[in-house]
Parts: sequence; structure tokens; C-alpha cells
Amino acid sequence: MVDSSEVQRGLQDVVALQSRICFIDGVRGRLIYQGYDIRDLAARSTFEEVAYLLWYGRLPNAAQLAELTDRIGALRALPPPLAERVEAMPVDAHPMDILRTAVSALAFFEPEETKPGPSSIGGAQRLTAVLPTILGQFHRRRAGLPPIRERPELSQAAYLLYALLDREPSELEEKAIDVALVLHADHELNASTFAARVTASTLSDLYSAITSAVGTLKGPLHGGANERVVRLLDQIGSTDRVEEVVRGMLDRHERVMGFGHRVYKVEDPRATILRDWSRRIGEAKGDRHYFDLLRRLEEVVHREKGLYPNVDLYSGSIYALLGVPYDLFTPIFAASRVAGWTAHVLEEYEDLRLIRPTAKYVGALDLPYVPVDQRG
Ligand code: CMC
Repeated sequence: MVDSSEVQRGLQDVVALQSRICFIDGVRGRLIYQGYDIRDLAARSTFEEVAYLLWYGRLPNAAQLAELTDRIGALRALPPPLAERVEAMPVDAHPMDILRTAVSALAFFEPEETKPGPSSIGGAQRLTAVLPTILGQFHRRRAGLPPIRERPELSQAAYLLYALLDREPSELEEKAIDVALVLHADHELNASTFAARVTASTLSDLYSAITSAVGTLKGPLHGGANERVVRLLDQIGSTDRVEEVVRGMLDRHERVMGFGHRVYKVEDPRATILRDWSRRIGEAKGDRHYFDLLRRLEEVVHREKGLYPNVDLYSGSIYALLGVPYDLFTPIFAASRVAGWTAHVLEEYEDLRLIRPTAKYVGALDLPYVPVDQRG
């Protein structure tokens, strides 16, 4: 019989598996991908380099990077029957629901890439390549923009912005999105990655694992927080109202999105980098109002609750200033995290062990069985 003190609600602090992919030092505020500090990667690498690093365990040389970049560019087109399905999806659906269903449907057309085992590296690259296309096709239809073209010559960051906005980003905008993609690409056993690994651990296929992950990322306690942060900023409106709104939320025991973390006990290092990018983009656009609101929000939330910002606090302000609609913020997170999800699924297939914890039973035992016609 398990003692109640042994139950770790939410699996907090439980070490569930070994991984070489990502290390979080929650006390010192460090994040490492395959040995490299996120600060170096954000400053000096592109998303494509980081995806290579996550999948293959080492940074690519110039030829390997060019080959991967070409491959991702070449894999962007959707199979026509999938494009038709995306076309038929409801325009008022949340883009995360579109993504979840489209990822699942992609498996019909690519049975080889999705099989558990080494061939699923092809599926990993395929999924990374097509997520922006799925989002772009869906969003352009509802926004009345021209149909998407696959633009193999564009970097993943530039393609994502082109797919969503039908315009090519400036150098600064492309770098801002690329940094955001680098920073979101992996985060150890976060809920969506864990969901993907649980699915893969049953020897289910790659696309099923990523479908599980997309559905898990959607929740407001996980990737859904970035969209809600900007909605809150709009509701607050001006810096002199931050105090009043936050106090009201805390009095009602509501959570302020973009703050707190299960693992970091200090500031999330991704928030530190994105804060600087939020300021830079704000200044470049001549609009610092999100940045000023966020700085004030940080002060008040830290003073009232001792909480630090997480990755979701500043990202939405950058996307909003680039003109991205709010409901596409979490899908941008997915378009990056897919690299990490797939790397974890590949690692799971290499060292497979069914993930199946136990529960402490707190229900009744030995109830006398009453036939249906005698139940009150
Ligand atoms: N606003 C207000 N109070 C909070 C918050 C917050 N954002 N985060 C934690 N708390 C409080 C919580 O109410 C609790 O207080 P008390 O002990 O008085 O009941 C205490 O802090 C501990 O909270 P917890 O829920 O036990 O901590 P956790 O480790 O389960 O929570 C979290 C982690 C991320 C779910 C939580 O901090 C949260 O809900 N944050 C807001 C949502 C958010 O920003 N999510 C993005 C997370 S980072 C990116 C990602 O993974 O997608």
C-alpha cells in the first residue's frame, strides 16, 4: 500500500526518465540544449541549427546545415488531400485545434515517416516543415489573404511570418522570430513533451505522439498562456491600472499568465532574452506600450506574489507588434516545440520503456453489488 506522502501530485519533482536532450537548472536559471547554453544559441544560432542539434545531438557544420535547410524547405508543401481537408475545416476554429487535427490527418498520407524507429527522423523533419504551412493555409483563408506558396528559399522564421502575414519580415523581425523559435524549441519534460513520450512509449507512431503534444500544449497553464498575457495587457490598457487589475485578480485567486514555473525558482532565462527583444521590437516600431505595461506587471506580481516571469510573458508582445493575431501565438510555440517533441520521441524509441505510473487508490472497496432493478 502506498502512503499518501509518497503521492507527488502533478508528478512534481519526479524523475521519470533519462535524457540527453535538455537540462534545466531551475535554481540558477540555466537552460541547456544538448550541452549548449540557450543564451549562446539564441545569440548565435538559427532555429534550423537548433533543430539539427536536438535531433542529432551535435551542432551541424555548414554543409549539414545547408542540407537540412534545403530539406525543410523542400518538405513544406502539404499533400493535396490534406490541403483539401484543411480548406474544409471551420474558419472559426482555434488554430491549435486545426493544427492538432491536421497533424493527425497527415499520418494517412505518410505511413512510412510516422513508423516508430529510425525512419521517423524523416517524419520529424516533415512535421517541422509543414506546421507553418498548415497555419498559413488556415489563417490566410479566414483573413482573406492570397493562398500560401511554399517558399523554400526562406528561413523557417521568415517562412512562418510570410505564411501568417503574407509579407516578408525585415531583418530585425526575422531575427526576433528566429530567437523566439530557438528559445521555445525544447524544455525537458514539460507537459506536452511528456505527453508525446507517453504516447511513443506504447510503441505508437510519431504523428500520434505529436498529436498528443499539440493537444497538451494548448492549455492555458502551458503554451496557451502567451495569448492570454496580451489579452490581459489590452484589458489593463495603461500602466497606472496594472496595480488595481492585478490586485483584483489575486483577490479572486486568479493566476496571472506568464508568471511562475514548476521548475524555475528564479527568472526563466528565456524571459530575460525575450524581454530584451520585446523592448527592441517596441522601439523599432515606435510603440513601447506593451513593454512598459509588462515591466510594471512584473514589478507588481513580484512584489505581491514573489513570482518571476516565464517564457510566455514577453513572447506575445513581440508577435503582436509584428501584426500576428493573438490566437496564432500558441501555434507559433508549437511550430518551434515540434523540434523538441520529435527529438524526445526519437529518444524514446531508442530506449523504450512503457511509461505507466501508478495511482494511490482513495475510493471505496468491497461494496456489496446491487442489481440494477434494486438500485434506489
Ligand atoms: N499567478 C498567480 N499565482 C500563481 C501563479 C500565477 N501565475 N503561479 C503560481 N501561483 C501561485 C499558486 O496560486 C500557488 O499559490 P498558493 O500556494 O497560495 O495556492 C503557488 O503559487 C504555487 O503554485 P502551483 O500551481 O502549485 O505551482 P505549479 O508549479 O503547479 O505551477 C504553473 C506552475 C506554470 C502552472 C503556474 O505558475 C501558473 O499557473 N502560471 C500561469 C500560467 C503560465 O504562465 N503558464 C506558462 C508556463 S511556462 C511555459 C510553458 O510551459 O508553456
